[in-house]
Amino acid sequence: MGKHIVIGISGGIAAYKTLSLIRLFKKNGYEVRVTATRNALQFVTPLTIETLSQNRLYTDMFDTQRTLEVEHISMAEWADALVVAPATANIIAKFSHGIADDALSTLFLAVKKPVFIAPAMNSNMFGNIAVQQNIANLQERGCHILSPNDGFLACGTTGSGRMQEPEEIFDTVDEYLSEDRSLQGKNVMITAGPTYEPIDPVRFIGNHSSGLMGFCLAEAAARKGAKVALVTGPSSCTAHHSNITRYDVKTAEEMYQQCMKLVDNQDIIIMSAAVADYTPAHVAPEKIKKDFAQLSVELVKTKDILASVGKIKRDNQLLIGFALETENEIENAKKKLHNKNADLIVLNSLRTEGAGFRTSTNQVTIFSKDGREFVSELKSKQEIATEILQTAQLYIHQ
Ligand code: CTP
Repeated sequence: MGKHIVIGISGGIAAYKTLSLIRLFKKNGYEVRVTATRNALQFVTPLTIETLSQNRLYTDMFDTQRTLEVEHISMAEWADALVVAPATANIIAKFSHGIADDALSTLFLAVKKPVFIAPAMNSNMFGNIAVQQNIANLQERGCHILSPNDGFLACGTTGSGRMQEPEEIFDTVDEYLSEDRSLQGKNVMITAGPTYEPIDPVRFIGNHSSGLMGFCLAEAAARKGAKVALVTGPSSCTAHHSNITRYDVKTAEEMYQQCMKLVDNQDIIIMSAAVADYTPAHVAPEKIKKDFAQLSVELVKTKDILASVGKIKRDNQLLIGFALETENEIENAKKKLHNKNADLIVLNSLRTEGAGFRTSTNQVTIFSKDGREFVSELKSKQEIATEILQTAQLYIHQ
């Protein structure tokens, strides 16, 4: 029996490409069921969809011609994955806000399996803050965003917003479902998110990290069969995989203590957290009142967790650090690799548009201790996570 894919089509011109996607899944032995919005059916016909998928199209929740099954529930249970392609700004907004007013948006709420979303729209729309926030929201809840490509758009302009090609979408979903268990038996510790350093009972010093990169890494490692310890600062991201144990911490000191408890057991250690370098020397026991014309907070250095692990790590433990830089990126990243005794360092440049904090995408360069360099393209953080793990696996002691 082939795997089960539900494809959701919403109303964008890229819907014509989804017909090829249906064919690709069918050709590769998948069973396919399709649901489409009313607007999608302006671009592709039910007959074409039903002929290609060899299944009935599910479009209207209240179609009395259909069987008495509650179709969105049975489809949600039947599916091994839901692929929404193209995903318009409208359907993305509905998913993000839990609106269920048609077959596809209702199905989305009922699905507990992996969801892949391939946005397609005009580049200005794609760049709009509302759309970006909705996408980030969905990503934080575990949806896989298949970032649109740059290219010629149907509106006559060029830019980002072009749906990924059917082959790319198929490859990502197929690889995800292929059950690569190459990290089975390995323990992986990942740090994620910011740390909050308290000033008084109300305020803290924090940073813009959302934790998403670390959560994507945890999810990718867990999927490959690893047992993952995810040590995270305050983050609204959620970890779904049952192989992930989440340890919530607040401060750099708590993160340090938690990591030290866990480190001995680990095969791979990835430090993607944005740990505060300084913390207030004293925490005021009561809220600081605005009685002063000027106020200074004395700060002291925190412990460097990556460097501390670098000092004690065994030869059979692979240590991966991150370097977030705004200038002299390569030189600084290589310095960190060396000074902190990491095996790999992942460079994030805040100068690259679409990379770094509060974005759904990232672009990284990985430097290895043996002098190699691996450069990624700008991709979704999930895709970058998979690439980082693939690089790590070149160095792991089997
Ligand atoms: N890191 C850590 N503990 C700290 C500070 C940083 O484990 N107290 C880790 C981060 O998780 C990351 C790496 O060190 O993997 C580099 O962090 P980054 O902020 O880029 O560099 P810093 O070492 O803090 O140096 P600087 O801020 O001077 O660039």
